[in-house]
Amino acid sequence: MIVKPKFRGFICTTAHPEGCATKVQEQINYVKAQNKIEGPKKVLVIGASTGYGLASRITASFGAGASTIGVFFERPASGKRTATAGWYNTVTFEEAAAQEGLYAKSINGDAFSDEIKQQTIDLIKQDLGQVDLVVYSLASPVRVHPKTGEKFNSVIKPIGEAFSNKTVDFHNGEISEITINPATEEEIQHTIAVMGGEDWHFWMQALQEAGVLAKGAKTVAYSYIGPKVTQPIYRDGTIGKAKNDLEQTAKTIQAELKSLDGSAYVSINKALVTQASSAIPIVPLYISLLYRVMKEQNLHEGCIEQMYRLFDDRLYAAETPVDEEGRIRLDDWEMKAEVQDQISKLWSQLTTENLSDLSDIEGYRKEFFQLFGFDQSEVDYDAEVDVVKSIPSIV
Ligand code: NAI
Repeated sequence: MIVKPKFRGFICTTAHPEGCATKVQEQINYVKAQNKIEGPKKVLVIGASTGYGLASRITASFGAGASTIGVFFERPASGKRTATAGWYNTVTFEEAAAQEGLYAKSINGDAFSDEIKQQTIDLIKQDLGQVDLVVYSLASPVRVHPKTGEKFNSVIKPIGEAFSNKTVDFHNGEISEITINPATEEEIQHTIAVMGGEDWHFWMQALQEAGVLAKGAKTVAYSYIGPKVTQPIYRDGTIGKAKNDLEQTAKTIQAELKSLDGSAYVSINKALVTQASSAIPIVPLYISLLYRVMKEQNLHEGCIEQMYRLFDDRLYAAETPVDEEGRIRLDDWEMKAEVQDQISKLWSQLTTENLSDLSDIEGYRKEFFQLFGFDQSEVDYDAEVDVVKSIPSIV
């Protein structure tokens, strides 16, 4: 099949296996070029196929030599449809891990369900005995509650009053003013149910009850704060309420892990182009400016650089530095005054006409296409490619 990008809204419905392979290999190469991490040995990553979860899995595996089990929700190729990017990413990841003799197995299914939790516990018992790190990196628009069967949909909306600001259609570079109406109370509660801490807590309880957490086990989930310009839509909005809940849940889990001498952290990561962040209005325009300013100041990082720094400098450093709320801050460079002051200055000047000059919209677009395996200079996109690929551990 010849595979080209096809879009439905901000979602690309096709993925290129060779382009995805190239991107994963680049991340593996990055980690292998760094110092080895004295880190975890047996790791469970929930949300392991794209974005921050995939970068965490690569870092654990190729940076610390860990055995990894990855859980995700992806689709294999069928008929005329390609597989999803996360499927192809995992094919490459598992093949590369096998070449280095690193254990890697994956479970494809709904991580919110009791069945997938049980399947994961059975696999840990069978192959690893216990895990010493659990990374929770899910980003999903929906969750079916495992106890009640209720279906929740998350929304990205402000709370209290409507919010207007600039946003960009990065396909054509057009900047427009967008107004987003405030969420209803029900929408707020649904978003907390999907993206808050309950499912992370369910995972940790299930793993602990099953006896598959090692003494001293750590767990980490990812959150975001961000600048003033995105505050009404992000941190003060529905998703921010869910992130508050996630951050509170870290304290509950920490208390429950006490008997194991374990620890639970939330890491506040940098804003980056991922499938999840491209769905949020206004944020892509902010990220285009952020990339421009951070690249100019030599501070730019992608998912893999962030995750290497998380493991090497924070989670497995002699001490794990945290802020007054107990959170790990990997957004320290993003939030530097010299970065944010420059972004505020540029934000007010942005128009469709000067977008390419003032921002890194090209960098944003390129990274977005690369999420799906496109826009890689070494891949021939006019050539036929076999889109049916098997993840070695999934039969
Ligand atoms: P992503 O969209 O790249 O990855 C989401 C992962 O969750 C994928 O592996 C996907 O397969 C998996 N997933 C989704 N629904 C699932 C389900 N029902 N069952 C099993 N797996 C499922 O997202 P990204 O951006 O890496 O986000 C991960 C976390 O990092 C989120 O909590 C997000 O809020 C947080 N974060 C993201 C930032 C960003 O700028 N992208 C910044 C700071 C934090």
